[in-house]
Amino acid sequence: MPMNTALSHKGPIGVFDSGYGGLTVLKEIVKPLANYDFIYLGDNARTPYGTRSFEVVYQYTLQAVNKLFDLGCPLVILACNTAAAKALRNIQQKNLPNIDASRRVLGVVRPSVEVVHQYTSTNHVGVFGTNGTVKSASYPIEIGKLHPQIVTVQEACPIWVPIVENDEIDTPGADYFIEKNVNNLLQKDPEIDTIILGCTHYPLLAHKIKQFLPEGITLLSQGEIVADSLKDYLHRHPEMEARCTMGGSYTFYTTEQAATFEERGSRFFGQPIQAQQITLS
Ligand code: DGL
Repeated sequence: MPMNTALSHKGPIGVFDSGYGGLTVLKEIVKPLANYDFIYLGDNARTPYGTRSFEVVYQYTLQAVNKLFDLGCPLVILACNTAAAKALRNIQQKNLPNIDASRRVLGVVRPSVEVVHQYTSTNHVGVFGTNGTVKSASYPIEIGKLHPQIVTVQEACPIWVPIVENDEIDTPGADYFIEKNVNNLLQKDPEIDTIILGCTHYPLLAHKIKQFLPEGITLLSQGEIVADSLKDYLHRHPEMEARCTMGGSYTFYTTEQAATFEERGSRFFGQPIQAQQITLS
């Protein structure tokens, strides 16, 4: 395990995801924070994380965090819900003090949890996520801690990530699975008026999900929420803000072939990207 001890070290903000999905989060983060430098790392060679065990997701995520630290990032955002749900707490509490206590790792679950009460009037909230995120129960646990009045109901949607990855979004096959999962969630709790899209890939399905939702249900995509939360975090932590370099550069790394990442990733990021392949261990 690398020991990064340079307390005043400056560098880009790291954004990690199991693959392409975190690019939907980065896309929103760079809007209010366009002047900062960012490094994105997608573990495309080992995606998906959503079906993997707690231990494996934890080990893979820790490797990615160490790589981003080695690349100079003082602050890393786990843009992957599965990684944030299964690995963030362990990394923050067990690993960070030994690696470099002055660096920070943040996730995407907490920012959504912090604002969800502003959207619901029935106090019944739904969450769509991967198997891993749903099994971790991170959303119900965290929402329960901050907003005990809110009832949280989850639905695992294991087919949604492959639908997006394989560009099958606007197909009858996608409609079948999306309608099925939407109906399942609403049957579990018909009073839901707010749904968190608890997976990085799901914003690309938002227009389809809305087709199957009754009027009056709010769909929360995380990108903007995470962007606001990060902006606020940097404002509240000037010591970290001062360590994030501002050159307006975006660097992309993938553990799979760079050419494939560039082609597919630009769909998630909304603009052309250039990537380099690296290995994690
Ligand atoms: N990025 C993951 C998430 O947000 C979805 C893809 C995967 O299963 O690895 O949960």
